[in-house]
Amino acid sequence: LNNGLAKTPPMGWSSWNTFECDISETLIHQIADTMVSSGLAKAGFQYINLDDCWMSGRDPTTGRLVPDATKFPSGMSALSEYIHSKGLKFGMYVSAGDITCMGFAGTKGHEQIDAETLAEWNVDYLKMDCCNQTDLVEAHGVYVAMSDALLSTRHDILFSCDTDELLMRMNNHEAPWDWAPGRCNVARIWLDIKDNWPNLMDIVDHASNVMYASGPGYWNDLDILTVGMGGQTDAQYRSHFSLWCLLGSPLLLGNDIRNMTLATLNILTATEVIAVSQDPLAIAGERIRTSIDGTMQVFARPVEGPPGTAAVVLFNRAAVAQNVTFDFYNDLYQNNFCCPPRTPAITVAVRDLWQRQDLGTAVNTTSFVIPAHDVVMVKLTPIA
Ligand code: DGJ
Repeated sequence: LNNGLAKTPPMGWSSWNTFECDISETLIHQIADTMVSSGLAKAGFQYINLDDCWMSGRDPTTGRLVPDATKFPSGMSALSEYIHSKGLKFGMYVSAGDITCMGFAGTKGHEQIDAETLAEWNVDYLKMDCCNQTDLVEAHGVYVAMSDALLSTRHDILFSCDTDELLMRMNNHEAPWDWAPGRCNVARIWLDIKDNWPNLMDIVDHASNVMYASGPGYWNDLDILTVGMGGQTDAQYRSHFSLWCLLGSPLLLGNDIRNMTLATLNILTATEVIAVSQDPLAIAGERIRTSIDGTMQVFARPVEGPPGTAAVVLFNRAAVAQNVTFDFYNDLYQNNFCCPPRTPAITVAVRDLWQRQDLGTAVNTTSFVIPAHDVVMVKLTPIA
């Protein structure tokens, strides 16, 4: 969506994964405070997004959405002001049907007045969900109407469209990554994330070949992060975060950042890994290699630097450590990945982005031992 926003994937926090409907003004204040005090804001996480369950209904006389006064006694303008006073941005949620997924007032037919209400509250990010909506052509129309309505407010509101692949493919409807780039800044491409390894692999597999749609102004959304929620190991979370950064997904934290381990904080504030997500070239990564047995994969994307500079995730999907040799001469540089083929050999400087350490130079290939369910993430810079 050409509204000047999301030049790189948006970064923030969402209430859904951990809190679902158990949200309140106090919680959001504490999350905003922690965003700043923990260093997450400094690492780039900006948006504080309320998900489903913030509203009590629609006012029958004004037609406006009304916040739940028990959860948010000071109202949304005050909450918005609090978040902005911390130097952060405020995100909210509506749904494209008659009711939200959790049964609250839906936005179908109320796109203009809802956009105006949100603009009055100085909302910076709007997620539009899609539940209880069986007419997919009509649902698409609600997204289009909301996209126009947001633009008409002349406020900078990033538009996130939660339309999953399954829904939008029915009735021969176009996949979200075909229509959403013109209408949304972000659109979901698969089902809801769960904090377990098979579900994570399912999303990664669906994402691997559709990220071409992403670029400045529009990013395929692989869903809210589960890093630090407790269902997986730190290695698994490191893989999760590396892939979201490399593939150019929005980075919305889904854990309770008020109570996180040092290991979680270290993953979420890994500056050189985040720099790949926010790279100024803004080219989403892709999967470039899968081993015959499927347990070892390579993902890559061009990043800023001399021609041929690339960020690479070497991903060990197996439950045991594996030795991998990455043939970057063939897999990257003879593969139209980034630059004209080079012969007869190519030398690169290798930097480990998790260790923040230069590993010296390599010619044509480079080898690593990668622990179970873990990654090595490196930057390769060709040396003239
Ligand atoms: C479905 C969405 O995909 C989730 O991210 C979340 O917003 C829930 N709905 C809320 O009900």
